[in-house]
Amino acid sequence: MVASFAHTVRGGSLAGELAAREPALTARLQQGLDASEERLRGFAAEAPDPYVARIVGHLIGTGGKRLRPLLTLVGAEFGERDPRTAVDAAALAELVHVASLYHDDVMDQARTRRGAPSANALWGNSVAVLAGNWLLAKAARLAAELGPEILRLQAKVTNRLVTGQIRELTGVSAGEDALSHYFAVVAGKSAALIAMALQSGAIRTGARDDTVQALAEYGEHLGTAFQIADDILDITAASEVSGKEQGKDLAVGVASLPVLLALADEGPGAEELRELLTAAGRAREGAAAVPRAVALLRDGGAPAEAEAMMRARLLRARAALGGLPKGPATRVLYALCDIVADRDH
Ligand code: IPE
Ligand code: IPE
Ligand code: MG
Ligand code: MG
Repeated sequence: MVASFAHTVRGGSLAGELAAREPALTARLQQGLDASEERLRGFAAEAPDPYVARIVGHLIGTGGKRLRPLLTLVGAEFGERDPRTAVDAAALAELVHVASLYHDDVMDQARTRRGAPSANALWGNSVAVLAGNWLLAKAARLAAELGPEILRLQAKVTNRLVTGQIRELTGVSAGEDALSHYFAVVAGKSAALIAMALQSGAIRTGARDDTVQALAEYGEHLGTAFQIADDILDITAASEVSGKEQGKDLAVGVASLPVLLALADEGPGAEELRELLTAAGRAREGAAAVPRAVALLRDGGAPAEAEAMMRARLLRARAALGGLPKGPATRVLYALCDIVADRDH
């Protein structure tokens, strides 16, 4: 088994969390994950220059939860063909994800990712952006090998993802509601790829169109809930657990859901928080700004409010599963809703 690098070094693997509930299916999923891991490692090694190979392979090698490949392999359980047909599609979803992380860490000036120095910290912004592009090109090549339907899907989703990232940077437009903007950004930057992961697995094994559609709908809601949980963890999770710097969203002025909710609040601390979240306020407070903002946010009502919105999304994700055949794969998708609700890294 190649699991030593396949999973986060900080917590148990997602497959591990599912094993108690669906042992037989989990064992098969783990085999698929191991095979997709070999593929992922192979792509980076294909770079002709060893230094480039090291750079583009950096974030593949540092681990991660591998949620997206897992979802592809679960999606593949809904078709008639051998689920092993979906191993390359599982690697594809992770390739696009990893590429987006290279870009995201430049956008967020992140120093740490997956418990290791980010690519931009090691090699600078330009190299990190180009490494992300290299991986997206590799993803396009792989998608083309998987046929026109997957290629179209991958291209569309990559457009949605990057549009979400751009809109996160450009911020809310004049007259646009801040929460609508937030959900549009999240649908693009996070949910689209999570939906694609499921869809592509189901397409590879020839699942029915209505099944693929239901999986996509589930993925959009699960992905949104997953990002809301991530936004909450930015405030509540220690770096050793998340593998990322705590309070990064606050430090770089990203309008995460708890921040948006806190800004709309009128309670004690809200005014101080508003001040701290401006660039001028952060500059004035210096190193104390982020820990102070984290404490104010944590002590206010915003995390609980965000959590309620996350749970509402998970209800919609579960509802999308209603028409799917009952069985271990559908049960795993329900279980993943519970895992996202209890996410701690
Ligand atoms: C991080 O995704 C980016 C988001 C969409 C929140 P993950 O939390 O799945 O990151 P890894 O793959 O485990 O590192
Ligand atoms: C980015 O969201 C999602 C993508 C990778 C496109 P975040 O900025 O919240 O992701 P983290 O917290 O850095 O993983
Ligand atoms: Mg980020
Ligand atoms: Mg985040």
